[in-house]
Amino acid sequence: MVSNFSDQKIIDSWEKNVEPWVLSVREGEIQSRVLVTNHAIVDVVLAEKPKTVLDIGCGEGWLVRELAAAGVDTLGIDAIPALIASAEKAGGGRFKVLPIEHLSSQTLGETYDALVCNFSLLGKECVDQLFQLAPSLLKEGGSIIVQTVHPSMGGGEGYEDAWREESWVGFNRQFSDPAPWYFRTLESWVALFSRADLKFVSLREPRHPETGFPVSIIFVGMKVSEHVDICR
Ligand SMILES: C[S@@+](CC[C@H](N)C(=O)[O-])C[C@H]1O[C@@H](n2cnc3c(N)ncnc32)[C@H](O)[C@@H]1O
Repeated sequence: MVSNFSDQKIIDSWEKNVEPWVLSVREGEIQSRVLVTNHAIVDVVLAEKPKTVLDIGCGEGWLVRELAAAGVDTLGIDAIPALIASAEKAGGGRFKVLPIEHLSSQTLGETYDALVCNFSLLGKECVDQLFQLAPSLLKEGGSIIVQTVHPSMGGGEGYEDAWREESWVGFNRQFSDPAPWYFRTLESWVALFSRADLKFVSLREPRHPETGFPVSIIFVGMKVSEHVDICR
């Protein structure tokens, strides 16, 4: 039996919620995305001036389409075949069914200027695994860019790394079987970069225009070798 708190349970839940998710994203029903986080992630990625991007956990593919339209060769991968089918149907980018758990430089056969994860690092072991793998997926000087829930908002049950229940509260559509997610403190997010020998480059806190509070956090890390001189 799949535990209620596991990376596999996240995938099982997302499999059941493809249709409401696609409609919520494409109809612009998630206010924080429309007002803040969509353009925040696009701005941060384009500021890195990548020629090639891997969008990890791309969902129905909106970010791949945005980046491709800006001239960036982008591949989107996701664990859920129906989400990738919906992305392929919409077109405007390259897509592949590939769970993080099966990700490697061999399965992709290419490396990237940037890896982007937009609200898709929800699990525990698979996220640790992704960070360990990230340097092998990146070109020298390439970036890993992660947007996630701001740690100040997710610690309601105590400020420590732990599984949380998702609720889908606030969504208009009929979602079912909420996916769990693994909460990480700010310190734990930063530690993921240093454990993977990725240079921690910057942190942004996109804010809600009305409340002034951050609605997300964006981390940028970079693959650097000892001999590369970076001035940033
Ligand atoms: C909140 S959605 C974000 C989707 C997309 N990045 C966006 O901005 O709309 C989370 C996504 O992560 C994907 N996901 C969750 N666990 C995954 C895993 N282990 N491997 C690949 N994708 C995963 C889900 O299928 C879902 O598409």
